[in-house]
Amino acid sequence: MRPLVVLAMARNLNWDQLEGTALVVGQGGIGRAIGVVLEREAPKLKLLRAGRGGPLPLNICSEQSLNDLKTELQQHGPLRLVINTAGWLHSGGIGPEKRLQAVSRAGLEESFAVNAFGAILLAKAVDEAFGHGEQAWFASLSARVGSIGDNQLGGWYSYRAAKAAQNQLLRTLAIEWQRRRPAVAVTLLHPGTTATALSEPFRTAVAPEKLFSAERAAEQLVSLIAKQTPLESGRFLAWDGQNIPW
Ligand SMILES: NC(=O)c1ccc[n+]([C@@H]2O[C@H](COP(=O)([O-])OP(=O)(O)OC[C@H]3O[C@@H](n4cnc5c(N)ncnc54)[C@H](OP(=O)(O)O)[C@@H]3O)[C@@H](O)[C@H]2O)c1
Repeated sequence: MRPLVVLAMARNLNWDQLEGTALVVGQGGIGRAIGVVLEREAPKLKLLRAGRGGPLPLNICSEQSLNDLKTELQQHGPLRLVINTAGWLHSGGIGPEKRLQAVSRAGLEESFAVNAFGAILLAKAVDEAFGHGEQAWFASLSARVGSIGDNQLGGWYSYRAAKAAQNQLLRTLAIEWQRRRPAVAVTLLHPGTTATALSEPFRTAVAPEKLFSAERAAEQLVSLIAKQTPLESGRFLAWDGQNIPW
């Protein structure tokens, strides 16, 4: 039996009236664009933009940095919205593996640190900053390639596995929060292939009409998050609202 508070939650709440604090984690292409959309669509929310380079300094792979975030959030009003856009696919010559012999411990560790452990440890750091009773959202960017059921092509071992691990961690969080934070909807999102630094080396095969600008991806994601109620918590959705198999 779901608490009555959950059954009263509205789909398509007016975000222009939404008050409290919003936190966008990761200031890459999609994260920055989401900040712009939120300023426009939810002007009453106090927007905190967090990333390794600021404005609010945050490294989701550092316990100290996550503890600092927890302390920082005590200075602000109740959290209504968290969107985690931090992710890692390649850097320093390490990147998605085309074959088994390219798999390395360093690549696996980096990918899991950011794409999986970072997401659940972020949830732990923000847990107590959510208010009681008012509808709220915790969304995190996953990737369709993290779907085990949908894996037809192979390759990209560490990124696929780390996003699959994030999906399991946040699905498990959604189940705990249904009981402990019944007003929060947890959602895993695939943004669609988007023209950012993360996808830059890997999108030659993507047709131009299938490649989103960061602005378009951000608009689609914010509008999809706004439709999620706690009754649907724990879903893995593509940018167009379709369920993606686990
Ligand atoms: N772009 C696509 O086609 C696509 C497709 C599917 C899924 N996604 C997912 O969408 C999300 C956003 O990606 P994007 O396209 O916006 O890529 P992006 O421009 O590369 O942004 C990723 C951001 O994550 C940040 N980050 C990495 N490690 C971090 C850490 N330890 N602490 C805090 N921030 C950290 C990076 O910070 P720095 O700037 O400090 O490096 C960067 O700003 C990612 O989760 C990605 O996996 C993207």
